[in-house]
Amino acid sequence: MNKRILLGVCGGIAAYKAAELVRLLRKQGHEVRVVMTAAARQFVTPLTFQALSGHAVHSELLDAEQEQAMSHIHLARWADILLIAPATADMLAKMAHGLADDLLSTLYLAAECPVFVAPAMNQAMWGKAVTQENIARLQSHNVQCIGPAAGEQACGEQGLGRMVEPADICRQVLEHGQSGALSDVNIVISAGPTREPLDPVRYITNRSSGKMGYALASAALFAGANVTLVSGPVNLPTPAGAKLIPVETALQMYDAVITHCRTADIYIGAAAVADYRPQQLADSKIKKGGDIGNIALVKNPDIIAAVAGLQPKPLVVGFAAETDDLENYAKHKLQTKNLDLIAANWVGQTEGGFESDRNALQVFWPGGQQILPMTDKHTLAAQLLKLIAEKLHEKNPVKNS
Ligand code: C5P
Repeated sequence: MNKRILLGVCGGIAAYKAAELVRLLRKQGHEVRVVMTAAARQFVTPLTFQALSGHAVHSELLDAEQEQAMSHIHLARWADILLIAPATADMLAKMAHGLADDLLSTLYLAAECPVFVAPAMNQAMWGKAVTQENIARLQSHNVQCIGPAAGEQACGEQGLGRMVEPADICRQVLEHGQSGALSDVNIVISAGPTREPLDPVRYITNRSSGKMGYALASAALFAGANVTLVSGPVNLPTPAGAKLIPVETALQMYDAVITHCRTADIYIGAAAVADYRPQQLADSKIKKGGDIGNIALVKNPDIIAAVAGLQPKPLVVGFAAETDDLENYAKHKLQTKNLDLIAANWVGQTEGGFESDRNALQVFWPGGQQILPMTDKHTLAAQLLKLIAEKLHEKNPVKNS
């Protein structure tokens, strides 16, 4: 279906690539209107975007003539999608804090449609803690972040910060833009680590950051799903619109997941559940003086296998983090746990895995597989969710067609 895309262009050298973006979006039959910041006009003339989009370019918040033709509120309502490319550090900061001192930042606040940003900036600016906090905040408000890509920068430096190429932005926006692919679908996602206490101050845990599960929750909300997020302790903002059930131990996660999966269409087990818990929980802190000897452990229940045994059974998606023989282990888990899909990834490598912002997945299902190459976890989540939605539609063509 043709979309009405509002393209916001900020002031950065990548602004010239936004012209190609307009051309590609229009070529695919979408209607594009362009908003430029004052700084963007220093890089590319509005005439370029006017010629490519076929519409006058909007720039001023307080321009009586333009407001008469289409007010900023009308412009925000008109859009099916707001795409900001390139998005500068300054614009991301304004958006993250609700500042609205120019037309584009005001449009973001007024927009109720899906919002995408394609950041472009120097690698040090992208890596700065405050920029990362701003982007995490925006993602928790369901803003979809595309890139940035790594490589040579206009300033001569190397690193993450280049705007993703227009053809890729176009593809990702339109893929994500199938918003509604999971509308009214109930999804339960478990994320993060579990903590298995030894005494009131110590516990056994693992390196899971929860980033993949939280990215999946955002992508599912974006696709229109009702999301219940059963989460172990993590340091991440809850995606806006998700129902958060915070848990600590594997047994608590088991109870919460089983309860909510009774009415779920999909369960995604992205949590790193501790396989064992200490048999004894000491009432008071274990003193270092004494010889505590061995810690006796007992096995935790396998949550995902239990969900796969429910009647009716939701579509069950598991994860497999492996250090070796990934394909065999993943296929074995798919079969023994009776899963519909398993997303396997290497851990203990230089890039990707538990604490990283990036990852690559090899996805298996009975009779098929697909590789999702290394990218940021939000893009990866959208790609994985697209596959999951396809499997749900195959399983249940009537309800979800
Ligand atoms: O067997 P393994 O732990 O490698 O399997 C990983 C998958 O099983 C993940 O989806 C994980 O969330 C799930 N799992 C579980 N309950 C456990 C252990 C793992 O649901 N006790």
